[in-house]
Amino acid sequence: MGLGWIRLDDGSNMRGRRKCRYCGKPAVVWLGYANLGLCAEHYVSCYENKIRRMLEKHRIRGMLMVAVSGGKDSMALLGTIGRISESLDIDVFAFHINLGIGEYSEVSEETVKRFCKDVRVPLIIYDCRKDLGFSIPDIVKRVQRPACSVCGIVKRWVINKVAYENGFDFVATGHNIDDASTYILKALMTNDIYSLVRGQEEFSESKPELRLVGRIRPQFYLSERENMLYVQLTNIPIVEDQCPYSRRATIHKYKRAWDVLLKINPIAQINIVRVMKKIRSMMAFPEPKLVQCSVCGFPTESEGGVCTFCRLMEMMKNSHN
Ligand code: AMP
Ligand code: FES
Ligand code: ZN
Ligand code: ZN
Repeated sequence: MGLGWIRLDDGSNMRGRRKCRYCGKPAVVWLGYANLGLCAEHYVSCYENKIRRMLEKHRIRGMLMVAVSGGKDSMALLGTIGRISESLDIDVFAFHINLGIGEYSEVSEETVKRFCKDVRVPLIIYDCRKDLGFSIPDIVKRVQRPACSVCGIVKRWVINKVAYENGFDFVATGHNIDDASTYILKALMTNDIYSLVRGQEEFSESKPELRLVGRIRPQFYLSERENMLYVQLTNIPIVEDQCPYSRRATIHKYKRAWDVLLKINPIAQINIVRVMKKIRSMMAFPEPKLVQCSVCGFPTESEGGVCTFCRLMEMMKNSHN
């Protein structure tokens, strides 16, 4: 059939022709490569079980901070963890950073607030303008780096700092298989050996001596499409608009390459991620050496001992004078 995934409840001509494997009701989704049809109820429970298994596999317990942007991936993650946390002995908190990117950030914060209130998950908000002194556009105007790179540096630092200072055991983010596979594809196509070797992991340990809080990416093997279907079936509100900066990001161009590749091989993304993981384990590349930043005390790989975030803040101070 070629296609690996077909929605059956949105006008597809296959509507009604496939049944749920578990209950025999009309399927809402057909996974061609697995020969699997699922109704809404069983889609939701299968999706939640995948996340549950990932949390169990890495023994995630205690205080968990879910970083939510308001987009479909992290909102699906928060919705799921909110529903299953009690049975896993997890105390879940949501964390949102208002990046100060105009209306996009205002809508994002409102959407996250509304959802957290509905599902009764406590929410911590960090406001870049108030808490850091600069919005992302302020920084982008003054430093010579692409917006998404600046934003990534700030988000990574803020998420770890807030998690560490509030005593969280782990942070969960909404990275998915599209992110992980595109990261590899881009690294291969741009001759970026450093990123290729380093890779993205589904889990990384806490290192309290370096003030590093452990990270889990429970949707590592789930696609954007699967996350989208979950939010639609469970009525989770999401921010539909994209960040105005991200439209220019080259990573989206690489992401679009998957539209073609997945028609040839529906499990190509999972395979490319697994292959790289295997290669990394066979080659036993040395782990990046982390040290504490001499300015902020949070971890860095930087040889000079000052983290990229602090260097960014230094540039901001200098550009004031
Ligand atoms: P991105 O780097 O934008 O693809 O986002 C990756 C993950 O980082 C998301 O799935 C969220 O878990 C987290 N994240 C992104 N933006 C924010 C934000 N503004 N506040 C909190 N977490 C975020
Ligand atoms: Fe960070 Fe768009 S969300 S630059
Ligand atoms: Zn069913
Ligand atoms: Zn620092």
